[in-house]
Amino acid sequence: MRTSWHRTDTMAENPIPFYTHGFTMAPMAGVTDSAFRRICIQLGATCLVTEMVTAAGLSRKSVKTKSMLKFHQDEKPIGVQLFGAKPEDFARASALVSPLGFSFIDINAGCPVKRVLRSGSGSALLGDIPRLLEIVRVTKQNTDLPVTVKIRLGLTRENPVPDNIGELVAEAGACALAVHGRFRTDFFAGEADRKRMKQISELSPLPVIANGDSTSVEAALKLRDDTGSTGLLVGRGAWGNPWIFRGLNGGNPHPEPGELHDTIMNQLLMMMEYIPSPQVFHIFRGHLVQYFRGFYGAAEIRNRAVRTQSLREVDMLAAEADIAMHTAVEE
Ligand SMILES: Cc1cc2nc3c(=O)[nH]c(=O)nc-3n(C[C@H](O)[C@H](O)[C@H](O)COP(=O)(O)O)c2cc1C
Repeated sequence: MRTSWHRTDTMAENPIPFYTHGFTMAPMAGVTDSAFRRICIQLGATCLVTEMVTAAGLSRKSVKTKSMLKFHQDEKPIGVQLFGAKPEDFARASALVSPLGFSFIDINAGCPVKRVLRSGSGSALLGDIPRLLEIVRVTKQNTDLPVTVKIRLGLTRENPVPDNIGELVAEAGACALAVHGRFRTDFFAGEADRKRMKQISELSPLPVIANGDSTSVEAALKLRDDTGSTGLLVGRGAWGNPWIFRGLNGGNPHPEPGELHDTIMNQLLMMMEYIPSPQVFHIFRGHLVQYFRGFYGAAEIRNRAVRTQSLREVDMLAAEADIAMHTAVEE
């Protein structure tokens, strides 16, 4: 029985072309919350993914975990990413998320964080491929949604994932594979290993979505093309620079005058719909320091950003940064 769409099939049969052949905002815990995702889709991301959500927490019906599944109607299409170690948790979690309006379920097999790894989740699954495949199988058995998998290249350089990982996850029921071109032991150091990504992509019957180091439009498109991938997952390159998605669609990859200010205020106001003061300002500082980069005087503005504690302060600082960003500095 055919369980998945293959990259050689016609696009009409592909249930999630916006993910497999597009420019998706990569899941980033603590960053890609609802407000930031809305900014990204407005600026041209073709698809969104939630932050990673614990399958065990959902399985226990944890209220806090369930709140991470909330998304706004403007955030479509959106996939939900689950992480965990036990197939039975994925079985319950996938049944629970299925009716909520997500376009697909993504399985996290790449998170390098020690605590996650110790629990047997995230990139730990790369060291236990049979368990990863069992998780894909039970997830697929408990949902009508397409199932996708996000991996790294392996736990360590000495212990890479099999070259035919695409074929293996396809047989288990997945319909797309995202590959972050680093090993777990690399964390975020060094560069994505394009050669290895290409090997995986060439052997994969599934569409492969390339991930790692999409720091600019040119770098992102080169990563996709060098690795023979069909689509892109853009992570840190979009944090503080969601205009990269407009650039990937052929538009201006940088904010127009006034746009930095407007975008920051939009994002903050959306966040204030679901995070109370003063926490919202503490959390938002992390976004501000990313927005305030790459222009004369940015370091000094960042120093002030980490002390902001009101809407008015953020408003004034964002306006100042916007002007500084668009002011040519005499040599
Ligand atoms: C702060 C942060 C949080 C992340 N959270 C997740 C996550 O929840 N799920 C996931 O699959 N990857 C997560 N990642 C990894 C990214 O999705 C992506 O794979 C990685 O950053 C490499 O892509 P990039 O070079 O485009 O940033 C996270 C990365 C960062 C920096």
